[in-house]
Amino acid sequence: MLAFLCILLLRLTAYASASSRGKHIILLAGQSNMSGRGGVQNNTWDGLVPLQSQPNPSILRLTAALTWVKARDPLHKDIDVNVTCGVGPGMSFANRVLEIDPRLGPIGLVPCAVGGPRGTKISEWGKGGFLYNQLVTRAKAARSGGGSILAVLWYQGESDTVNEVDAKNYKRRLANLFNNLRADLGSPLLPIVHVAIGSGQGSLVETVRKAQLETKLRKVRCVDAKGLPLLADNLHLSTSAQVRLGGMLADAFFNLRNQVS
Ligand SMILES: *[C@@H]1O[C@H](CO)[C@@H](O)[C@H](O)[C@H]1NC(C)=O
Ligand SMILES: *[C@@H]1O[C@H](CO)[C@@H](O)[C@H](O)[C@H]1NC(C)=O
Ligand SMILES: *[C@@H]1O[C@H](CO)[C@@H](O)[C@H](O)[C@H]1NC(C)=O
Repeated sequence: MLAFLCILLLRLTAYASASSRGKHIILLAGQSNMSGRGGVQNNTWDGLVPLQSQPNPSILRLTAALTWVKARDPLHKDIDVNVTCGVGPGMSFANRVLEIDPRLGPIGLVPCAVGGPRGTKISEWGKGGFLYNQLVTRAKAARSGGGSILAVLWYQGESDTVNEVDAKNYKRRLANLFNNLRADLGSPLLPIVHVAIGSGQGSLVETVRKAQLETKLRKVRCVDAKGLPLLADNLHLSTSAQVRLGGMLADAFFNLRNQVS
């Protein structure tokens, strides 16, 4: 009985000190592979959550209704509402970050990626549009409860490989998006880790990849998804690929944090 009370007290103290420290907020944005399709086949998620993506009391998620709940996959189920969501990179990223530096808990994940049934182009993420507004609104709501935004994880571009105008404008639009977001959040050097696509829905993959890999902005890092295993649909990252990507994003995140700017 006494042991039980002691444990309860310890837990409560840990919880109180964790919440008084405020959350370390991570924004997740982009299209389907950030939203997560790992384990989804025939519009059904297999429900399998790998060890690296398991829920953790120090990882929370902002719901569509702007409340915090314990995070678990599919992180985007109430945001990317027109498709079946599965495992994305968010949970393995957060678990890896806490493994490397437990002082970064509690982590508050803010899912904002939308793939939908057809994907989203970067032109749909322009200032004033629905997706951009939702991202900024959710980021501000997350911060208003205490805490600070640690980083943005961005993974998108596959839908910009079909049309030449989209592909050619990708580099400019990506820089605009990062600059707009930093300005609107009042955080000019907000760390951003983004992903270079491995393949895409069209033939202009190399144009978009080049734009992503050559984007040189302060406190921005790019990790390369080329070669990560895809699902049988040949379109989406598998669960194990998402776990690897989460780890790559975490490494790049620490790389940015440790960089003397
Ligand atoms: C998915 O649907 C196809 C066609 O209906 C079927 O052949 C296949 O076995 C299904 N796969 C799973 C995992 O249910
Ligand atoms: C879902 O589909 C509806 C109807 O087409 C659309 O109005 C809405 O914007 C979509 N939402 C998302 C998040 O894709
Ligand atoms: C998901 O990511 C992989 C690797 O970058 C890419 O080959 C694929 O086209 C993406 N799928 C979609 C639907 O964006």
